Amino acid sequence: MTTTADYPLHPDAEVQDANIARIYDYYLGGLYNFAIDREKAERIKSMLPSVDLLARANRDWLRRSVRYLMGEGIRQFIDLASGLPTAGNTHEVAHAIDPRARVVYVDNEPTAVRHGNDILAGEPFAAMAGVDGKDARQVWAHPAVQELIDRDQPIGVVMGGLLVFVQDHEDPAGVVAAYRDALVSGSFIAISHLSVDTADAQTCEQVDRMIAAYRAGVNANLYTRDKATFTSWFDGMQLVEPGVTLMADWRPTPGQDVDAQTPSRQLGYGATGRIV
Ligand SMILES: C[S@@+](CC[C@H](N)C(=O)[O-])C[C@H]1O[C@@H](n2cnc3c(N)ncnc32)[C@H](O)[C@@H]1O
Repeated sequence: MTTTADYPLHPDAEVQDANIARIYDYYLGGLYNFAIDREKAERIKSMLPSVDLLARANRDWLRRSVRYLMGEGIRQFIDLASGLPTAGNTHEVAHAIDPRARVVYVDNEPTAVRHGNDILAGEPFAAMAGVDGKDARQVWAHPAVQELIDRDQPIGVVMGGLLVFVQDHEDPAGVVAAYRDALVSGSFIAISHLSVDTADAQTCEQVDRMIAAYRAGVNANLYTRDKATFTSWFDGMQLVEPGVTLMADWRPTPGQDVDAQTPSRQLGYGATGRIV
């Protein structure tokens, strides 16, 4: 039976089910997960042994992207499919540079939003919005976005893994385009995504099993995409250097490639587009 003693928030919470955001937090080495999450996380990891390094490579890409955008003068962010606002997430990176940078995290999973609100209590410049990140109109209409984000100024929209959860018939390109068309010039969209383009046969098989374990474990459907599809999502934007690369190769910090030695290094693309 899961206990809540190991979780620093919600001492009275009843935790019956594992949760994607907390599984991800576990992979990142965070504190915000329960035994039930760790069991599911280990089951998924038994399918793709380097899945935790893949998560870390994705979060490292996100951090480098946010730092890059801060360097470009961006001071307001919408982080779609954020997971928990911890383990070095967007507001932590932005506030290390400018404590008044504004960040709204968007996650459609109510438990992640509840945990996130607790974690952000007392943070005047960061908030959680519990809406579907696929639906730009819902995001713009959310009170936290209305309060913290000035749509007349450039915004950094971060989609770290959002489209992995979006099926083809839900039109991932259209999801990106709806944000692109609503952003003022000088804004940016940063996207990462799971891909098996350059993975060997064994790793592809492990990814298939990992996807099946996510479906069985937490009822989440994940999709892989190829480089051409990923690149097409930046239509109408100016890709910033170095363009579309493996996540680990996008403006890497020398000596900090967490995933250098594992097959999962091949499993994700990252890129950032500027709205012109
Ligand atoms: C892999 S985790 C967070 C990854 C994090 N963005 C990063 O790049 O490090 C994915 C999160 O996306 C959320 N999610 C999935 N589909 C979503 C959607 N349509 N809208 C908002 N959040 C979504 C899940 O609830 C989960 O917390």
